[in-house]
Amino acid sequence: MASAAATAHIPSNPTLCAAAKPPLQMHSEYPQRKRVLFVTSEFADLIKCGGLGDVSAALPRALSPQHDMRLLIPGYRQVVQSGRPIRIVGQLPGIAALPPCQIGRMDMADGLIVYVLLNAALYERDGSPYVDTQGRDWADNHIRFARLGLAAAEIAAGDAGIQWRPELVHANDWPAAMAPAYMAWRRTNTPSVLTIHNLAYQGLCDMRCASELAIPETACGVDGLEFYGQLSFLKAGIAYAQHVTTVSRRYAWEITTAEHGCGLDGLLRAKVLANQLSGIANGIDESWQPETDPQLVQGFTAGDWVGKQANAAYVRRWLNLDADGPLFAVVSRLVHQKGIDLTMEVAEHIVARGGRIGVIGQGEPALEAAMTDLGRRHPGRIGVHIGFDESDARRLYAGSDFLLMPSRFEPCGLSQMYAQRYASLPIARCTGGLADTIEDGVSGFLFDAPRVDAYRQAIDRALHVFAHPELLEAMRCRAMRAPLYWRQSVQPYDRLFQRLLSHVNARQALR
Ligand code: ADP
Ligand code: GLC
Repeated sequence: MASAAATAHIPSNPTLCAAAKPPLQMHSEYPQRKRVLFVTSEFADLIKCGGLGDVSAALPRALSPQHDMRLLIPGYRQVVQSGRPIRIVGQLPGIAALPPCQIGRMDMADGLIVYVLLNAALYERDGSPYVDTQGRDWADNHIRFARLGLAAAEIAAGDAGIQWRPELVHANDWPAAMAPAYMAWRRTNTPSVLTIHNLAYQGLCDMRCASELAIPETACGVDGLEFYGQLSFLKAGIAYAQHVTTVSRRYAWEITTAEHGCGLDGLLRAKVLANQLSGIANGIDESWQPETDPQLVQGFTAGDWVGKQANAAYVRRWLNLDADGPLFAVVSRLVHQKGIDLTMEVAEHIVARGGRIGVIGQGEPALEAAMTDLGRRHPGRIGVHIGFDESDARRLYAGSDFLLMPSRFEPCGLSQMYAQRYASLPIARCTGGLADTIEDGVSGFLFDAPRVDAYRQAIDRALHVFAHPELLEAMRCRAMRAPLYWRQSVQPYDRLFQRLLSHVNARQALR
């Protein structure tokens, strides 16, 4: 896939999520328990480049008491070499240029079942799920992720040889978005949901690839996958899934506007009219507990900040930052979406007022280089770590006073919620999920325009609060209570699944 828009999350060293998880409640007496296949290209237990990995690890687990949730992920090197046994349970034939694959089954320690799509040539490579070690898109991403979508459709049709068939398929983002399309072309009577975590990444490829991907000619028009002369995987998912969700209510509205619709706003507005588009906010997983998180240097509770200070001391030592002054954190993919350039522009303003900035992230090479250079110019004031490590990220959330998140757009955002939970107040743009999860002046600071003057004003308000301990204490305590855990926010998915499945049952009854 050549176009920039085809890229999914930009490069990162995939990281493992180390925290042990309690056993899943699998045998609840929930009467409507359904079999659901959750199709995704990231899974934080084994490989993650951003929030999609976190959601894929947390949401199926949160739904497990209600449903028999199973994952389908590609067998990247990090997956097959994770040390967890994989048992071969299914075989898939080759179709057009999509090669034959095996399906392996991996049982996670807490009981979650993960199907792994195995084909060494396609998936077992150095680099991230989407790009090589130089940050270039894999040239055959269209084959790699069409194969993922087709595998989901084959499993849904009962054609994979595995002794399990889902009643609903939940596809996530463009890498899984061909699943609903292949299901429709195979006339599989199983409903599908597509969740858009980020509309900006669409999975575009040359129209001439259609036959390689076994896409019927009739589906290549503007009413199908065609998108300005190319094929769009995301458009396929939007067009063929019975329902489309996105990860906050505000973003669900934003993507129907020309400003944020990435050229798909017309189609998305049609989905709204058909009652087939909704926003369901992400939650955070249970491991985000400041009292007990084993990855922190020391735990802490609201009002008792000794442990928070211990994490701050660790971070300051690690990033060679001076011991004084408020600590501002950046924990982010270093990409245009995240407004990293804006943060670099306000950095001098922060430093001039005694602030320190700690950065951990990875992404576009130009932004990595500029950020590294900024750190070099401000020794002791700005510390930059290019790369990603889950424990260090958690310590930075916990040790910082503020999180900088001036995203140009943000479908939901998890980082601001992690920061809130760890008493670091987000300073963020009023967009998408940031607008939905941050109450300005209460659980963080919001500013409107994606401009440095507005950003600076928000930073000045934060510094004012920092200078008044009683205000800081009140905001920290409110922020810590703000984020919802998945168990508190999972019901809308459950209701959606039940609704879609009742439509199928009604259709079958009419036959
Ligand atoms: P996005 O998914 O757009 O990156 P979110 O705020 O939803 O934004 O999720 C960010 C998640 O990814 C957090 O868990 C954060 O700690 C993690 N993260 C941030 N930068 C990286 C990176 N370079 N590689 C892997 N994970 C990262
Ligand atoms: C995407 C979005 C982010 C969201 C995450 C998980 O990466 O950029 O806003 O939180 O997916 O849904």
